[in-house]
Amino acid sequence: MNNRFVFFLILKDWIKRRIFRQSTSIRGTWETTPGGFENMVEFLNWFDTTSSVEDTIAAAQRDWHYRFASHVHFEKVAKKRSLEIGFGGGRLVAQAAKSFDEAVGVDIHQAFDNTKCFLALQNCENYRLVHRNDIESLKDGSVDFVYSFIVFQHFDSVEEVDFYLSQIERLLSDEGISHIYYGKSKDTDIQVTDDKNFVLRDCSLFVAPEAMKDLVGKRFEVLEYQDNLPKNPETRLGESGQARIVFRKKY
Ligand SMILES: C[S@@+](CC[C@H](N)C(=O)[O-])C[C@H]1O[C@@H](n2cnc3c(N)ncnc32)[C@H](O)[C@@H]1O
Repeated sequence: MNNRFVFFLILKDWIKRRIFRQSTSIRGTWETTPGGFENMVEFLNWFDTTSSVEDTIAAAQRDWHYRFASHVHFEKVAKKRSLEIGFGGGRLVAQAAKSFDEAVGVDIHQAFDNTKCFLALQNCENYRLVHRNDIESLKDGSVDFVYSFIVFQHFDSVEEVDFYLSQIERLLSDEGISHIYYGKSKDTDIQVTDDKNFVLRDCSLFVAPEAMKDLVGKRFEVLEYQDNLPKNPETRLGESGQARIVFRKKY
């Protein structure tokens, strides 16, 4: 049902581009669309396909476990503060809040109140939501674990990757770890879709794993990476469009 609503938005966007020759701002769609949904399931479905609040919570538990918590470096990390880049509806903030004293999230969308409602449904209170433009309000060295899932592939420029890498460098505690998933480019180093060719909700930034290792390696010590991931981490079936990289501050 809810997919029908997103399908309608995608169709409207297609007509706008193909018939009226207007382009869609990549960043603009992520900023404004979430504020237009009328109920919680539609809101959550925008960020990660779902048909109910319960489904979102179950998928979040799976993703948190398989994508982050079950990895070797996670166990060793101090559990004072986590930071999610691109928290969306807040499903992974709710999971992080079970392990960390405080789970912080940054995003650019204008519907933080909806995320707060979703977190309240799970009785989650030990979190903080910060707009991307206010990320400087977080103190240097105050974060033990920075993570991001299905977000970097939605950036509109490689400068945004650089912006977050510089913030991660500033924010990570001395023993802190960052675990980032990103959209993979198969041929060119870095591929960015422009607003003219952007299709609503599609990925817009793809980085070749070697190029990502170079970018990250300039500032950090790369601890681990995986260029080929299964789409379903539980059954290990399918092929994901994402790769992942784990790193810490250079000493
Ligand atoms: C597909 S959703 C994923 C949300 C969440 N990580 C999850 O797994 O449910 C992508 C998210 O990235 C956010 N996003 C896009 N560009 C961003 C940027 N430049 N900085 C921070 N968040 C951004 C969007 O607003 C959206 O919440």
